Amino acid sequence: MIPLLELTSLGKTYATGHGPSVIVKDFNLRVSEGEFVCIVGHSGCGKSTVLSIAMGLNDATEGGVIVAGREVIGPGLDRGVVFQSPALLPWLTARENVLLAVEHRWG
Ligand SMILES: Nc1ncnc2c1ncn2[C@@H]1O[C@H](COP(=O)(O)OP(=O)(O)O)[C@@H](O)[C@H]1O
Ligand SMILES: [Mg+2]
Repeated sequence: MIPLLELTSLGKTYATGHGPSVIVKDFNLRVSEGEFVCIVGHSGCGKSTVLSIAMGLNDATEGGVIVAGREVIGPGLDRGVVFQSPALLPWLTARENVLLAVEHRWG
């Protein structure tokens, strides 16, 4: 069966004041439709980095992400994320926050 989500040879290196910092190296994951997968690891091991790359919110340094056979090149309505901290615009109402995304896509 073709996986719904494929992360292949994923790598992420950040440039820091102390030189390159390798956060994710050769990470591979295949998730089929209906599968429930947890990524477990200590704080700072790179879980959010991997998820943000899968969301298209962060660029991989190596490798790539395929969703339903198509390469991820940015955020899309075929993927969703629930952030750990509030990611709403506080000066907008709840409805306006929802409309922001909907209108961005369909408006
Ligand atoms: N923009 C960035 N520049 C440099 N280092 C970063 C950046 N973003 C995250 N990091 C570092 O990458 C590591 C992994 O972070 P993260 O993916 O948030 O870990 P986790 O979600 O597993 O706790 C941490 O050491 C963090 O400090
Ligand atoms: Mg995290």
